[in-house]
Amino acid sequence: MLELRDAGACYGKAQALHGISLAVRPGEVTALVGRNGAGKSTTLKTFMGQMRLTGGSRWLDGTDVSPLAPERLSRRGVALVPEDRQIFAGLSAEENLRLATLSHGTGPWTLERVYTLFPRLRERRQAQGTSLSGGEQQMLAIARALMTHPRYLLLDEPAEGLAPVIVAQIVQAIAEIRAAGMGIVLVEQNLHVPRQLADHYALLDSGRITWTGGQDDAGDMLEEMLSGLSSPAA
Ligand SMILES: Nc1ncnc2c1ncn2[C@@H]1O[C@H](COP(=O)(O)OP(=O)(O)OP(=O)(O)O)[C@@H](O)[C@H]1O
Ligand SMILES: [Mg+2]
Repeated sequence: MLELRDAGACYGKAQALHGISLAVRPGEVTALVGRNGAGKSTTLKTFMGQMRLTGGSRWLDGTDVSPLAPERLSRRGVALVPEDRQIFAGLSAEENLRLATLSHGTGPWTLERVYTLFPRLRERRQAQGTSLSGGEQQMLAIARALMTHPRYLLLDEPAEGLAPVIVAQIVQAIAEIRAAGMGIVLVEQNLHVPRQLADHYALLDSGRITWTGGQDDAGDMLEEMLSGLSSPAA
């Protein structure tokens, strides 16, 4: 289990997270939802060790990993697919994937396995990062994270800005990754994607978790709570 217990995080003097407690278990999807600026990306960065904890702790399979840097967490099986994807534009799709293998060696994920998961990437493996479509970049970003052989995957808005047909392919891939036993924290603003995948929901508002529940509890209530949240200041 990957877990934050009462975690706090700051940007300078601004407190972005106030005592977040959130967990994900192997083979489950925890969906983290909330409006713009609620602190969803900051929560994922805190799981990954990219934000220093200003309070609370971080646990990985029963071990306190609060002090560990992102590289150490990555080696222990946590991977983040960031909102901006961070594809190396000057490298081909396959070179982007091989780069991840260089730092993490061999393991359960191979080029063949990620190409089976994302057939489109096999077709586009020689294409430069710059010439990939948004959907292809998202697939590549997920595939590259898998090449680090994670047990826990943190996905920051994987469907954002993509056409419905591409979103469907990404949802299918996430379902397959979960079925392989991965624990996944899925950040989405749009409930369409977590409705197909989430085992648990957490609603984040102004750096606090204000509601948690399962698919059955969520019903229309979650939709109403999300639309009812105040808009961020213009
Ligand atoms: N690098 C940064 N420096 C200072 N403040 C930041 C930084 N990144 C985020 N923040 C602030 O922290 C708060 C949470 O931001 P965060 O990016 O985690 O929200 P989010 O829920 O991911 O939003 P979005 O839906 O827009 O992606 C916001 O008030 C934001 O302005
Ligand atoms: Mg964000």
